[in-house]
Amino acid sequence: MIIKTLVENISEKPELGAEHGLCLYIETKRHKILFDTGASKIFAENALKMGVDLAAVDIVILSHGHYDHGGGIRTFLTLNQTAKIYMQQNAFQNHFSHSIFSQQKYIGLDQGLLPNSRFVFVENGLIIDEELELFSKIAGNRFSPSGNQDLYMEMNGELQQDDFSHEQDLIISENGKTLLVVGCAHRGIVNIVDQFKQERKKMPDVVIGGFHLYNGAAKRDEAPAIVDGIGQALAETKVQYFTGHCTGMKSYEQLKVILGDKLGYISTGSQISL
Ligand SMILES: [Fe+2]
Ligand SMILES: [Fe+2]
Repeated sequence: MIIKTLVENISEKPELGAEHGLCLYIETKRHKILFDTGASKIFAENALKMGVDLAAVDIVILSHGHYDHGGGIRTFLTLNQTAKIYMQQNAFQNHFSHSIFSQQKYIGLDQGLLPNSRFVFVENGLIIDEELELFSKIAGNRFSPSGNQDLYMEMNGELQQDDFSHEQDLIISENGKTLLVVGCAHRGIVNIVDQFKQERKKMPDVVIGGFHLYNGAAKRDEAPAIVDGIGQALAETKVQYFTGHCTGMKSYEQLKVILGDKLGYISTGSQISL
């Protein structure tokens, strides 16, 4: 299995663009998967430069209904004529951010994309095939990101605290290895890993994705005590972690001190082989 970061917040390669967003290309024996699409068409420009053929992608997984993950959907639909895009039932709910430091901002998906027969709306989890499974509706409240308090969803015309029921994670099983891919881990990376273990009686081998420890609305990093708690909880697992995007550099550095080699960064253009 090969995982290429098509876009993330930073790029170490001058020829590759970066943005606040996430898009991963994952190639397995059976599938060419796109996990999220970044915030704009940058993922497609980078794919071209990285030798990734987006027309050959056979399945897209959208982690949740935020623009920095689904902002490239329109571009993808013009470049690929076949792949279905799997998302949770309310991914297209209106989503907003609003903090005491910033005005209310729409951060949801482009409503003009609806309706589309290539969208597959999923409620809860779903076994797609022997390799792929969607994992959702995470309970638990250990070290949940405090930045969630500035994120809202529209319900019956009124704004409510987002419950992130529009969030899903992807489990990939190949050659006896299990990879868990998360977008922003709004429900909390510790809760996601806890629930995985509770339901499956084992841990994934590798976890990749954003941990939402940077609150973009308030431009604030997560409290060091929370990051420390997350680091200690993850350190107790026998899992290799890779993160970036909404984890934020300050929290990443703090986690890196605790986790050492168990944590890596997925900047734009990086590649991981499992
Ligand atoms: Fe994000
Ligand atoms: Fe998000």
